[in-house]
Amino acid sequence: MKDKVRKAVFPAAGLGTRFLPATKALPKEMLALVDKPLIQYGVEEAIAAGCEQIIIVTGRNKAEIEDHFDISFELEQLLEKRGKTELLAMTRQISHMARIAYVRQKEAMGLGHAVLMARDLVGDEPFAVILPDDIIEAGVPCLQQMIEVFEQTQSSILATQVVDGPSISSYGVLDCVPVEGSPRVFDVKGLVEKPKPEDAPSRNAIIGRYILTPRIFDVLEKTPLGAGGELQLTDGIKGLLAHEKVYGYSFDGLRFDAGDKFGMLKATVEFALNHRELGTVFREYLKSLSL
Ligand code: UTP
Repeated sequence: MKDKVRKAVFPAAGLGTRFLPATKALPKEMLALVDKPLIQYGVEEAIAAGCEQIIIVTGRNKAEIEDHFDISFELEQLLEKRGKTELLAMTRQISHMARIAYVRQKEAMGLGHAVLMARDLVGDEPFAVILPDDIIEAGVPCLQQMIEVFEQTQSSILATQVVDGPSISSYGVLDCVPVEGSPRVFDVKGLVEKPKPEDAPSRNAIIGRYILTPRIFDVLEKTPLGAGGELQLTDGIKGLLAHEKVYGYSFDGLRFDAGDKFGMLKATVEFALNHRELGTVFREYLKSLSL
């Protein structure tokens, strides 16, 4: 029988230093992109892709994430009393949208370590990892596209996108070859974390969506701490490659790094232009600017 991806892990225990001072007391994952916290976009994507359980890895100062997905009695009562039915329905929908479990990462020891914290909740089945600050706008949700590939390969899949120029050195980069007959799928031979542009094995950067087989947990347990003294997920995936096949998947969609100030600004413009209530006025406003 083929395995299904039923669970999605959201590492959300990082310090968000690129977004200071906004993230001094507020979790980066709760920063609003137009009117919704970043992590809600990811949770909605996972649900749209068919995931039944959401696992959020949190840490200190992250209580707002749990509050956001919980029932807010006072707010609901007030909205009801004031007859704000649409807002009430939207507020209720957030607390009912998914089965969510939380696990703590006591110290921000890296993405690989955060994923390892979810081991007991994931168990022995394939699972998705979504980095909530990578926002992907797509007709078919990015994770759903990846799950379709997983259903055929039953192997780990890493989302990838072409990055030109020197900024490739901010990413994990795939050493890979295209799979014949599947133009978006790559056979991964190796991974290099944050290479110098001249050393990058390809232009295929790893983006924050993964489907991983449960073997990754055993491998991560044995992976030594890497760059920055952290347990790197890319090092774990390198270890996984010694045992099984891993594929890259060049998704169809627009990706924004909303964990970075400039990336968040770009995402804000894009999402505001497409917003049901704001799109038209925002477009008019932008046109009126004499830049
Ligand atoms: P980032 O590297 O983008 O997040 O990790 P960061 O470390 O919080 O941010 P900067 O670089 O200091 O600005 C991607 C995701 O992985 C989580 C983060 O919360 C973020 O959602 N993460 C990272 C963890 O959960 N634990 C960690 O130890 C590191």
